[in-house]
Amino acid sequence: MPIMRNMLLYLSKNQMANRAAKKYGLRFGAERFVAGETLDTALVKVRELNDKGILATLDHLGEYVAGSEEAAALAADVVKALEAIKDSGVRANVSVKLTQLGLDISYEKCLYNMRGIVAKAKRLGNFVRIDMEDYSHNEQAIAMFEQLHSTYGPYVGIVLQAYLYKTESDMVRLRPLAPNFRLVKGAYKEPPEVAFPKKADVDRNFILLIEKQLKHGHYAAIATHDERIIEHSKAYAAAQRIPKTQFEFQMLYGIRPQLQQKLAEEGYTMRVYVPYGRDWYGYFMRRMAERPENVKFVVKSMFKK
Ligand code: FDA
Repeated sequence: MPIMRNMLLYLSKNQMANRAAKKYGLRFGAERFVAGETLDTALVKVRELNDKGILATLDHLGEYVAGSEEAAALAADVVKALEAIKDSGVRANVSVKLTQLGLDISYEKCLYNMRGIVAKAKRLGNFVRIDMEDYSHNEQAIAMFEQLHSTYGPYVGIVLQAYLYKTESDMVRLRPLAPNFRLVKGAYKEPPEVAFPKKADVDRNFILLIEKQLKHGHYAAIATHDERIIEHSKAYAAAQRIPKTQFEFQMLYGIRPQLQQKLAEEGYTMRVYVPYGRDWYGYFMRRMAERPENVKFVVKSMFKK
C-alpha cells in the first residue's frame, strides 16, 4: 500500500493531468469529495449540512498558481465566497491555500492578496484559515500567519501537521498569539528527514499536539476521521474540564458522514470542509492516497455509462 500511496501523491502534482481535469470537469467519482464546480452548488451543500447542525468551511479549490493575474482573480473569488456566506446566511468560514494566492510568485504578492481576504473576513465578522501545504511552503506559511495575525488578530488561523518533526516547536513559537489551530496528520509526501515515516509516530504526535493546544487554553480544530483519536480527544477534554466551546471536530466533505452527524448530535461543534471548483485534481488525488481502497470507486466509475 505505501507504493500505491506514494504513486498517487506523486501523480497529484502532475500538471498535465491537472489541466485535463480542469477542462473536462468533475470525473471519476470526484463528486464524492468535491461539492460541485461552482460557489452556488457548494452553498446548497453547505445549507444541507447546516440543516443537520453541522458547520462548514468553504474551500475554492486551486494550488500552485504561477501567474499574478490568476492569483489575484482567485483571491477575488475567495472574497466573493465570504460575501456570499454573509448574503445567504449560511454558517461557514473559508480556507485558502497560499500557493493559490501567489506564494510561488512572491511572498509579497501573496501577502497582498491575503490582506484583502482577511480584511474582508474581519469586516464581515468571519474567519479565514490558511491550509498547510507541502513542507517547502511551511515556513513561509507560518511567517505569513504571524504577520497577518499581528494586524487582524483572531480573524485568521492556520493548520499544523502532526507528521512534521518541527510542528511541536512551531506550536511553542506561535503560542503567545493564542492561535486558533486546525490540527491534522498531514497529507503530502514528505521525506523522513522532515516527517515521521511511521503512522504510529504521526498518531502519537497528533495526540500530543491536541492535548498541548487544549491544555494551554487555546482553540483546537481537531481535523480527523480517526475514531480512536476523536474518542481520545473527547475523553481528554472531559477529564481536564475543557469546555466544548474550546474545540471543534472537522472532517472532509464525503468522508464519514454518519460520524459527523453523531458528533453534532452529541453536542460537539462539527465542521465539514467543503471544497468546490474546477481545480479538483490535486485534492482528489490526495484523498485517494489517504485510502487507496478509494481507487476501486474510481475504476468502477470509469466503466459506468
Ligand atoms: P487516517 O488516515 O488514519 O484515517 C482514519 C480513518 O478515516 C480511515 O481508516 C478511514 O476510515 C477514514 N478516512 C481517512 N481518509 C479517508 C479518505 N480519503 N477516504 C475515505 N475514508 C477516509 N492536510 C494537510 O496536510 N493540510 C491541510 O491543510 C489539511 N486540512 C484538512 C482539513 C480537514 C477538515 C481534514 C479532515 C483534513 C485535512 N487535511 C489536511 C488532511 C489530513 O492531513 C489527513 O491526510 C486526512 O485527514 C486523513 O487522515 P485522518 O486523520 O482522517 O486519519
